[in-house]
Parts: sequence; structure tokens; C-alpha cells
Amino acid sequence: MNQQPTHSEQITAIILAAGQGKRMRSSLPKVLHPMCGQPLIDWVVEAALAAGAHDAVVVVGHQRALVQQHLKQRFGQRVRFAVQHHQRGTGHAARCALPLLATTCTTALLLYGDTPLVQKNQLRAMLAARRDAPSGFAMLTCNVADPCGYGRIVRNHDNHIVGIVEHRDCTPAQRHIDEINPGMYACAVPLLTRSLAALTDDNDQGELYLTDVVAMAAKHGRIAAVEADASTLMGINDRAQLAHCEPQLHRRIANHWRREGATIRAGVIIDAAVVVEADALLEHGVVLRGNTRIGAGARIDVGCVLDDVTVAAGAYLRPYSVCARSRIGEGAKVGPFSHLRPGSDIGPDAKVGNFVETKQVTLRRGAKASHLSYLGDGDVGAGANIGAGTIFCNYDGFQKHRTEIGAGAFIGSGSQLVAPVRIGEGAYVATGTTVTKDVPADGLAIARTRQTNKEGYASRLRGRLQARAAANEHAGVSSTTAAGDEARHE
Ligand code: UD1
Ligand code: MG
Repeated sequence: MNQQPTHSEQITAIILAAGQGKRMRSSLPKVLHPMCGQPLIDWVVEAALAAGAHDAVVVVGHQRALVQQHLKQRFGQRVRFAVQHHQRGTGHAARCALPLLATTCTTALLLYGDTPLVQKNQLRAMLAARRDAPSGFAMLTCNVADPCGYGRIVRNHDNHIVGIVEHRDCTPAQRHIDEINPGMYACAVPLLTRSLAALTDDNDQGELYLTDVVAMAAKHGRIAAVEADASTLMGINDRAQLAHCEPQLHRRIANHWRREGATIRAGVIIDAAVVVEADALLEHGVVLRGNTRIGAGARIDVGCVLDDVTVAAGAYLRPYSVCARSRIGEGAKVGPFSHLRPGSDIGPDAKVGNFVETKQVTLRRGAKASHLSYLGDGDVGAGANIGAGTIFCNYDGFQKHRTEIGAGAFIGSGSQLVAPVRIGEGAYVATGTTVTKDVPADGLAIARTRQTNKEGYASRLRGRLQARAAANEHAGVSSTTAAGDEARHE
């Protein structure tokens, strides 16, 4: 078989995406529903371009502004748009695309926008089969256990394909055919133009069916059929089908990064745009979304959820850390149970520990906040230490203010830093201090009442409290109220 496109062959993908997708019951157009973090249609466009299509014409209609805007941003010049104002069927949609085909385009790769599992090698095999097909037409086929809803492939006595019958137009005998039309075709452009012009709406839905092109092509000569694995060709018409197909793509993505050298345990979910470098380790239940990037040798422990996060080489995220739009530097340690909100920049070898929440904050090299803190809107210098329970009081009810901490400073546990405020390099903030004024470099800030110890006072107090409780019990008064009053007077 002729596997390589010839010099004279120019392939344009025609991808149909004008329908509403009624069965999704959604205000979002069907083809924009995400699967593994990217819209259904992106998978189809990617597969078509990777299979050798020079460009793609996407037929848009229902909520076309949304679909166009997304695809333009994602694929730029390689995608152009044909508008189908009224959804009169898949054949009519393909017709709308014809005026946009370049005169140099020889072959149309026809796809539906709702079949995201299709792979580039399946499309390549179909395009190659078309080159040798006497009809100039090739299609994928597959056998399924439950053909309900799909168009059935009709063959003649020589086992050649002669047409497709839609489910709702099938005779009772045809309903038993389990070879179905996954909806992927390669067709010589002149044949396509002629066949689309000849379509009629003589069917149960009164629509122009793209599938009727198959019977017309069969009259010209043998159609090439490439059998493919049914599980990769499902069309997504409702949310149950989407949920059924998504794990397959997640498996494919995980296996890709495994082959690139990452160790990925079962049950890890990785979205399409994520990058995982070699020797990274992703433990059970990790979820990586958006443009997340995991550097070489980084370790992401059980249950971490990362959305648009860059993790540098050798960093370690302990279990159940939740991070969004943040950066984690080389060798840094985060978690367990840390919450990095957008704009957190955790420097190399820095540490963010349990129950620490950060937002719009930079921790420079080796800075540490190991326990129970809120660090919002600030800058923490290299090697500074933030004690347990420190709070950056960044919000006055109207505006956010910054807290700046110099290199090597030490913030004692349980302190509140009332922003805007600066703590100089190497300064100390005594435990339990509420800082409201800047602290000079190398200074000590302490703001709390001096402690008094009263020798032997505790047993005297206990004695008095006990006697009071006994007297109250005798008089029928609530003991908690009375004891509380006594302690408050001391
Ligand atoms: C279609 C095929 C069926 C095949 C199945 C595979 C036809 C007539 N039927 O049925 O043989 O087994 O796909 O998944 O082609 N669209 C438009 N304009 C329209 C109608 C549809 O652009 O006027 C687009 C839709 O947005 C969608 C695609 O074409 O992306 C397929 O339409 P859909 O309604 O899902 O067709 P199926 O009933 O699945
Ligand atoms: Mg469909």
C-alpha cells in the first residue's frame, strides 16, 4: 500500500461541528465539551493535522462564535471556518465546506467533530488505502457489540461496501448488522463535489446525509475499507458516552508519559496539555490539569491536585497538596496538605508545610513556612523562617497590602504581620507579636504584655474554685457559670 502522500496530493480535513448536540442537554456546544482538559473537537483537529492534513475547514453553526473563537486561538491559521446556517444534515454541512477548499486540494479527509478517540495512524491508514482504491474513496469501519444509533454498513455478495443505512432508516434485518460507520472518510475532491451535489433528503429525518456519498462512490468502483478498533471510534452524543470514553484517553496520555520515562501509578489523571519529564514520580490519585509541567525527578505524592503549575526538577510535593497557577522551584518541598493559590512562587529548596495557604507570594531560596500559616501578597527573602501560625494580614476590607520579609529574618510562631509592612534582613519578630510598623534590618520586634508569674498561685486558685463549686451545688446554682466568673476575676 502507498503509505506516503504523493507530491501532488494535498489533503484538507473537513470537520463537521455545526450541530447543537441536543443529546448533551447543555448550553455549551457539544464539540466544546472538554475531554481530558481539552474540547472534543481539538482531539479531532489534532489527529487530522498529525495524519497529514495540510489544514482543516471546520463547519460551524450552532453557537459558532464560541467554537470559532476557541479554534482560532488554539490552531491559528491552520483552521478555517465554513458556516452552516441551518443544520440540514451532515451532507449539507460538508457541502458548506466545499467553497473553502483550495484549488490545489486533492483529497478531503471528512470527520465529525464528536469523535475524539480517533488516532492519527488510523487516519493515515485510511488515507493510504484511498490512494489505491478504484473509487477514490476510503472509510474506516468497525464491528461493535451494540450498534444501536450508528449507521450500518451494507455490503454486497462480494463483500464490497455498497452503502450506509442510518439506524432510524434500517429495515428490521439491517438493524442486526453489527458493522458500523464510525464516520471517517477520505475522498477525492472531484468525486466529493459531484456526490454532495447529488444528495437528496429522502430519509426519516428529511436531512442531507453525508453517508449517502458512500453509495455514490461505490458505483464508481471498489471502496477501500479499513477496519479499526471500535473502542477508538466512538462518537460522543451524550454525557454518558463522554464519561465512558474519557478514561481511555487518560490511559493513553499516562502511557505516553510512561514511555517518556515517568513513573505513573494507577489512577493518576493527566490532562492533554500537561508535560511530565523523565524520572518524575506520580503517586496514586494525583490529578494534573491545564498547562502543568512536572520537572525531571520531581515527586508528586498521593492525592495532589495541580492546575497550571510548574514543578521544577527534584521538587517534592507531599500528599494532598492543592496548587493552582503557581511555580515550585528545584528541590522545594510542599505539603502535606498545603494550599498554593494563584501567584505562589516557591523558590528552590524552599519549604511550605502542612496547612499553609499561600497566594501571590514569593518565597525565595531556602525560605521556610512549615506549619499552619497564611502568606498572602508578599515576598519572603532567602532563608527566612516563618514560624507556625503566622498570618500575613493582607486585607483591610477594601484593599490588599504587601508584606515584605528580608533574607534570613525569623518570624516567631503565632505572629500577625499587618500589611503593608517590611521586616528587614536578619530581623527577629518575637513569638506572638502583632507587627504594625516596619522592623529594621537586624532589629527585634516584640509587641506583647510582659508576663507575670505568681508563685504557688495555682493550688490556691484550685482550692477556691472547688469550694465555690461545692457551695453552689448546695444552693442549686450552675457550677460552670460560677467557676467561670471566679477565673475571670483573677
Ligand atoms: C453520524 C453518521 C452515522 C455514524 C455516526 C458516527 C450521518 C448521517 N450519520 O450520526 O452514520 O454512525 O455519525 O458517530 O452522517 N453536524 C453538522 N451539521 C448538521 C448535522 C450534524 O455540522 O446539519 C455535525 C455535528 O455537529 C456532529 C457531526 O456532524 O459533530 C455528526 O452529527 P451527529 O448528529 O452526531 O450524527 P450521528 O447521529 O452521530
Ligand atoms: Mg454523533
